[in-house]
Amino acid sequence: MVEQTLLPEQHEQLLVKTVPQMVDAIYRLAVRGAPAIGVAAAFGVLLGIQDQGGLERSAFIEHVHGVCDELATARPTAVNLFWALNRMRARMERDEAAGADVEALIGGLFEEAHGIYDSDRATCRRMGEIGAELISDGHSLLTHCNAGALATAGMGTALAPMYVAAEQGKTIHVFADETRPLLQGARITAWELMQADINVTLITDSMAARVMQEGKVDAVFVGSDRIAANGDVCNKIGTYGVALCAKAHDIPFYVVAPLSTIDPTLADGSLIPIEERPAAEITEGFGRRTAPEGVATYSPAFDVTPARLVTGLITEVGLIETPNTELIRDALARGHQDAT
Ligand code: MRU
Repeated sequence: MVEQTLLPEQHEQLLVKTVPQMVDAIYRLAVRGAPAIGVAAAFGVLLGIQDQGGLERSAFIEHVHGVCDELATARPTAVNLFWALNRMRARMERDEAAGADVEALIGGLFEEAHGIYDSDRATCRRMGEIGAELISDGHSLLTHCNAGALATAGMGTALAPMYVAAEQGKTIHVFADETRPLLQGARITAWELMQADINVTLITDSMAARVMQEGKVDAVFVGSDRIAANGDVCNKIGTYGVALCAKAHDIPFYVVAPLSTIDPTLADGSLIPIEERPAAEITEGFGRRTAPEGVATYSPAFDVTPARLVTGLITEVGLIETPNTELIRDALARGHQDAT
């Protein structure tokens, strides 16, 4: 995987060989972004079954559940992690019920992990095509955090419509919020868009309101880590503020996320577990102390944007305008139908 903590200074690969290394890579944000975390977790299961082919069937199954439990501890908010692990568990249980031996169970898990990877790539493309229809030639967009290729196995979620719009020959411009405290916008989004020759301007998070007030933003596109059944959207800390500003300036606020980011078990966003990150990330991030020693801190990594602020949710099954519980239920049913 790309070691994302080193970007943009170094573009290096990280070799992950064990389950604890994968948990660490996810926790450190070496691999990050909801869909990428899901794909990484699925491949983490494969790392965990290396050299386990000699186990008895029931011991093997117990071992796989243990591996999934360990991977599930990496980060709490992005539901794609649990979604991918549940898919791996479900595949094993299906194969077990069909009488598969250990070798066949291993084969099934390999197939499932690769299926998750492949479908993420296709899903990103599809969301890009749907979202690009909302982008006109000359548009200036704003995004928060990184929801691009590095956050998925494909071309990204929120950045996918931008990539497709650019492919279609539209000239676009993007404001990338720097995204305090870990600077995914500055380090990763700005880097990614520059690599793709898309005109990008870096701003600090607190400048978003100003550029909107100046009439410089036509639409906002962000990704998501978990969407509740009613359409409340959890995403990187600061997204809620961006959504409020967009509403105040009548700027459309689009969320681009695969159906795997929807958690139908949570009625609304208040139930989404929000990760808290270590104090050091806001007191001495990137190696320099920027706050007094011993200061009290609070560092939620995500916030929740109420569904009422979301102009549209772009998924692989289409655009859901003003999402609500019913529309989200319908989209999930359509996705289920497409998969069967
Ligand atoms: O803490 P991170 O960098 O994993 O947070 C990522 C985000 O908030 C992204 O916007 C979200 O995962 C959507 S990614 C396609």
